[in-house]
Amino acid sequence: MADPVQEIKDRLNIVELIQEYIPLKKAGVNYKANCPFHNEKTPSFTVSEPKQFFHCFGCQKGGDLFTFVQEMEQVEFPEALRMLAQKANVELRGSNPREHNERTRLLDCLSKAAEFFSTTFAQRTEAEHVRRYIADRGVTEETATLFQLGYSLDSWDALLQTLKKAGFTDTEIEKAGLSIRSPKTGGWYDRFRGRVMFPIHNAHGNVIGFGARTLEAHPKEAKYINSPQTAVYNKSAVLYGLHLAKQAIQRMDAAVVVEGYMDVIAAHQAKFRNVVAASGTALTEEQIRLLKRYSSNIILAFDADTAGLHAAWRGMQIAIQQGMNIKVLALPAGLDPDDLIRQDPQEFRKRAIEAKPFMDYAFDTILAPLDLTNVHHKKKAAAELLPMIALFPDPIEQTHYVKLLANILEVNDELILQRLKLKPQPRSSAQRQKTASVQAGNAVGERGKMIGRPSRDFVLFDRILALLTLYPEGFSEVRAVIPQESELIQDSLLQALYKSLELFYNQHGSLQPQAIDFHNDGNVALAAKWQELQLIGEEEYIHNTAQQRAEELRKLLDQVKRSDIKRRLTRLGRDLQQAEKTHDVVTIEKLSQDFAELTNALRSLG
Ligand code: UTP
Ligand code: MN
Repeated sequence: MADPVQEIKDRLNIVELIQEYIPLKKAGVNYKANCPFHNEKTPSFTVSEPKQFFHCFGCQKGGDLFTFVQEMEQVEFPEALRMLAQKANVELRGSNPREHNERTRLLDCLSKAAEFFSTTFAQRTEAEHVRRYIADRGVTEETATLFQLGYSLDSWDALLQTLKKAGFTDTEIEKAGLSIRSPKTGGWYDRFRGRVMFPIHNAHGNVIGFGARTLEAHPKEAKYINSPQTAVYNKSAVLYGLHLAKQAIQRMDAAVVVEGYMDVIAAHQAKFRNVVAASGTALTEEQIRLLKRYSSNIILAFDADTAGLHAAWRGMQIAIQQGMNIKVLALPAGLDPDDLIRQDPQEFRKRAIEAKPFMDYAFDTILAPLDLTNVHHKKKAAAELLPMIALFPDPIEQTHYVKLLANILEVNDELILQRLKLKPQPRSSAQRQKTASVQAGNAVGERGKMIGRPSRDFVLFDRILALLTLYPEGFSEVRAVIPQESELIQDSLLQALYKSLELFYNQHGSLQPQAIDFHNDGNVALAAKWQELQLIGEEEYIHNTAQQRAEELRKLLDQVKRSDIKRRLTRLGRDLQQAEKTHDVVTIEKLSQDFAELTNALRSLG
């Protein structure tokens, strides 16, 4: 036999092949179209029928029909060869190892099953109620055919019998995920019974598995059951509807990702053709890789509430890390895309067009219930948004959101960067020196913990310092209670700050918050922290009188004493236990006395 490549070229016409993907217009001797590989308004994509090749004058892509399929389907040559061989009915010799054979058998088996289900759905009287159900859900016959919707008869072996008649073995049918073997009898029975069948295709359009929906309003079993993992079906590597959506995704340079099978079907019926579903799971790395072949833009449709945001966030992390651009199509509360599209397709389109970048959406959703004149709310905003911002691999994007957050919180960008543990981009050589000191500051002042929940003591010391920015007279009291090397100050940046305040106090005899500017000695990290404390101080205590501030300080210091005593009591308790074990009477006596004293001290603090 001739070379299969030549054989395929002889049998297929490139014009017809390309026309299956994009509409071609005759222009003189050639055909023209808007290029599917880049965005353009005037067609420079040209196909020559006599020469059997294509060329784009815009993006310079070109080649024969194999190249076209490789580009269009984003596959390597062997895969393109396989696809075109099938189309041209050319047998590929030498490429039929057993495994390949087995895969093909499974695919054939699944395709046969899909055929049986869809014929049952379209023709059998037992499926009358299913046809009515599907029609009631607004799905036209044409759409049902496009998605190969089917019905599995309420029988233990209707499919089994059909497939066996077609020459498939029990083992093959089980391996295709279509039957279950009873451990008791050793016999097989149909996995899918009495359900609406949604065939799941791979990107090439082969059926690889099924989703199956019950028709009962209050089902005892799961609403949907799906194919198990098989040699050809890997749930986490599948996007429902991709075989129908891939060209539109490429053309429109965006994929709309929804949750359910019915959402995809409703969307395609309403001519939103770039829609796929992740089938009820968060987007996986494999799914993202799959999408990335066609576009790096994802428009995610989900419920517009905060719970929706957090659910989506879990799904988005990988995508963001993979450098995908993610926008959010916010759905009206309680509606899924299927509902909305049937109610008002224009509204769906409008929301798709108005989709906001994920982070803008996150900002809006997280900030909406907060009162940003309240410092605790500011902190909450930072705590929720910072980990999200931290995830962006692109420094430009990240910096954008750092500035946005800094603006909203009315703090210095540097502070946000510091919290992100990022090095600020050096902007000038003068600035570069500052950067170096930030890094030095980082080495001592690692603030990773801040992104999580700060410890109670940490908040306490924070508040004391914040109060001092407005009430510096209290410093002598503070230093009397809190030694420089206090266990209370676990945060090393705060430790450094406390040391600097002590230094200033010793040099000047008093604390003068206005005179302290860590920018002068180039310590950006300290400067930022100091600014933040001043901000908190103002938020919390600006309206208080000096007397109220003194009172507040006393309360805070009492708290410090209390937690210090408690710490010591815990330690004493441990030592006591130890002493009791060794019957060390003297030590026991001494420790018990200390214990009693501390307990009294604690009581007197109230
Ligand atoms: P939904 O419960 O939102 O279903 O699950 P749906 O697609 O809107 O279905 P209808 O409108 O009630 O018919 C969303 C997707 O999650 C998966 C399916 O892929 C479903 O389409 N799912 C859901 C399951 O795999 N199993 C389940 O039991 C439920
Ligand atoms: Mn639904």
